[in-house]
Order: sequence, then structure tokens, then C-alpha cells
Amino acid sequence: MISEILPTWVASAESFGDAPEETLFPEERPLIARAVDRRRREFVTGRHCARLALARIGVAPVPIPRGERGAPVWPAGTVGSITHCSGYRAAAVASTEAGRAVGIDAEPNEPLPEAVLPTIASPGEIGSLRTLSEADSKVCWDRILFSAKESVYKVWFPLTGRWLDFSEAVVDIEPSGTFRARLLVADPAIGTDLLRGRWIVSDGYIATSIALPRP
Ligand SMILES: CC(C)(COP(=O)(O)OP(=O)(O)OC[C@H]1O[C@@H](n2cnc3c(N)ncnc32)[C@H](O)[C@@H]1OP(=O)(O)O)[C@@H](O)C(=O)NCCC(=O)NCCS
Repeated sequence: MISEILPTWVASAESFGDAPEETLFPEERPLIARAVDRRRREFVTGRHCARLALARIGVAPVPIPRGERGAPVWPAGTVGSITHCSGYRAAAVASTEAGRAVGIDAEPNEPLPEAVLPTIASPGEIGSLRTLSEADSKVCWDRILFSAKESVYKVWFPLTGRWLDFSEAVVDIEPSGTFRARLLVADPAIGTDLLRGRWIVSDGYIATSIALPRP
């Protein structure tokens, strides 16, 4: 699923099951030493997918530590992103010669809990969701909006090192499978106020992606 919404310069791997905990590097084990079973499984398989994706761009298996605010620390010369939700895990990576940042996010194709939408979307964005729902009611457009914003953050944070609030990007979803995110805060590390992304709905899951190529 995830490869369908990524450009060819991004390598990816995904899993609908879980990898054994032995696939972790010893340096990674302390990161989940006190975690509950669900968290252990998603972390292990996320790292496993990341190493499979890295192998596809010629990078040998290495530990992927947790950096500032939880962002994965990718091997030198690479950028990437990890996502997991119940029953699905994925990673996407690229060489820094090809891209500046990659962000991916996966969610169940289920409506957001009612109280969440007003906290992540502006009145204008909520209005657009109504129009999209009238066109196709099987797609949970509110979840796509949420996922798109998570992908925005996963591109934004590794480049800027800064928090970005849900109100600081305006996402415009196209029914054709793309979206545009207009950033309302500037940062020279991003170098643009417009991020272009893609989305897909498949087998009960939603995935979104943003891949920033090197200019
Ligand atoms: C960090 C965050 C984006 C993760 O998204 P999520 O949907 O909760 O969870 P996912 O499973 O898709 O992604 C989790 C993975 O994201 C990665 N991640 C965590 N923090 C990150 C960060 N600051 N930057 C980039 N990637 C990060 C990690 O790889 C993590 O998995 P791991 O801990 O097993 O390594 C989310 O929890 C968050 O903090 N959001 C608030 C900020 C935001 O989204 N702002 C909106 C801007 S428009």
C-alpha cells in the first residue's frame, strides 16, 4: 500500500504482522524495556520495516535510535519515516542525495472520535470535509485530514527541530489521491510554504505521504 503513494526515489517496506523481538539491535532494546506489549510489537516491526527499506537503497542493517522528541535517528546520508497503527506498520527511506525529507502516516479508515476533529481542523477544513463526504461517504475524510497533518509534522520536525501545531498547516484534500498543506509558519529549513502529499485508502487503512525531493 505505502509504495503506491511514494515516488520512485523513496524505498519502503510494510507489514501486516509483527517481526520477532530478536530483530532489534541490543542498543534499541532499552527504548522499549518498560513498554507494554502493543508498543513493543509496533516499535520492533517499525524498526524491522525501516531496515528492510534501508536495504533497498543499499544501507546495511544498523540500530535506529530514538532522537529528539521521538524522531528516529537515520543512518548518515539517509532520511526516512516510520508509522504504525493497529495491524499495520511501515517505513519509508531515501538517500539524502535524492530527498530532503519523507513523512508517512497510517491510520484505520474509521471516523475520528467526535471530540478530536475540532482540535485538529479549522472551520474551513471541516467545511471541505462535508463536500468530500458528499462525493464519497465510504472514505473517512476526517481521518485523511488527520493523517495528512501527521505526515506534515514528520517532514517538518526533522528539518526544523520545532513543534508545529495542527492549526499551523491548512490541508486541502483532492479526491484524486493528493493533498496540499499550506504552512502558516515560516522556517528557512523547510524553504517552502507548500507541501504536496498523496493519500490512499486500502483494505480498511488510510495512508498519507509527503516526499520532499532535493531541488
Ligand atoms: C509524532 C507523531 C506525528 C506520530 O504520529 P502518530 O500517528 O501518533 O503515530 P505513528 O505510528 O504514525 O508514528 C509514530 C512514529 O513517528 C516517528 N516520530 C515520533 N516523533 C517524531 C518526530 N518528532 N518527528 C518525526 N517522526 C517522529 C517515530 O518513528 C514513531 O515510531 P517509533 O516511536 O516506533 O519510532 C504524533 O504523535 C504527534 O506528536 N503529533 C503532534 C504534532 C502534529 O502532528 N502536528 C500537526 C502539524 S500540521
